[in-house]
Amino acid sequence: MAIQWFPGHMHLTRKAIAERIKDIDVVIELLDARLPGSSANPLLSELTGHRPTLKILNKQDLADPARTPAWLDWYNARPGTRAIALDASERAPARRLLAACQELAPERRGLARPMRVLTCGIPNVGKSTLINSLAGRAQAKTGDEAGITKQEQRIVVADDFYLWDTPGMLWPRIIVAQSGFNLAASGAVGRNAYDEELVVLELLGYLQRHYAQALVERYKLDMAPQDVAQLHDDELLTAIGRKRGAVMSGGRVNIQKAAELVLTDLRAGAIGRVTLETPPEFEAWLAVGEAQ
Ligand code: G4P
Repeated sequence: MAIQWFPGHMHLTRKAIAERIKDIDVVIELLDARLPGSSANPLLSELTGHRPTLKILNKQDLADPARTPAWLDWYNARPGTRAIALDASERAPARRLLAACQELAPERRGLARPMRVLTCGIPNVGKSTLINSLAGRAQAKTGDEAGITKQEQRIVVADDFYLWDTPGMLWPRIIVAQSGFNLAASGAVGRNAYDEELVVLELLGYLQRHYAQALVERYKLDMAPQDVAQLHDDELLTAIGRKRGAVMSGGRVNIQKAAELVLTDLRAGAIGRVTLETPPEFEAWLAVGEAQ
């Protein structure tokens, strides 16, 4: 079953981008560094009239550090695009962002007016947190439920750096099932749009193949990583539920509770730093999605 979900304010977001874009030098799209392909909006370039775009692979503290460079290269190879990795521990992100924007819009050097930037991103990608950090105080409300809109705001980051935040959310285009699962696992998709058990079984299948050692360590599984990789995904979920005490009267594992525990762990980074897709995998999914 593929996951279909759109935040309720797509029209507002599209309209707001169209109205603002004429004043904008560079667009910043925040991506989730654990799913840098699936968390992007493929229509962004059209929506923004092909403005230069800075892709921020955000929450890099949760992503696999061995995989992030490959994603940065993948985006940096695109014309009019630069990519950097970031997380909320960065104390002063403004100068780094401004430097990257200046590289993207070099013709602006020498102009008296400030760099004008528009930020956008799918829900839960850390946009409010970053804006708060850039603004130096709590301006945007963080931790909202996926898909809830906010009003457009302009933030004077510095005399030479103005930033507009789009109201509403950018929507992901879920053209392949795997992107939907990864978005749901990351918390980007409204929680009524997916079945937690299904999402976790998909997630565990991937983690078994690529992060079996991390699963063994997190859930103190009494088996070698290569044996974990051989388990059926529902056997693995049952074993995790048992280890974590998600057990009902009679000793049966509460699978729903076990699934919720795994999702909470993933989102908090408790399974370790994992990235749920590589550029070649994502390209292969796209090829399948486009062929359908
Ligand atoms: P949004 O505006 O894009 O929807 O996202 P928001 O900033 O509200 O952040 C969503 C969640 O992600 C928040 O956690 C926030 O603390 C967390 N977050 C933001 N940036 C980073 C980062 O770089 N690294 C990590 N590990 N987490 C980040 P929450 O639990 O939903 O809310 P709260 O308990 O922090 O209020």
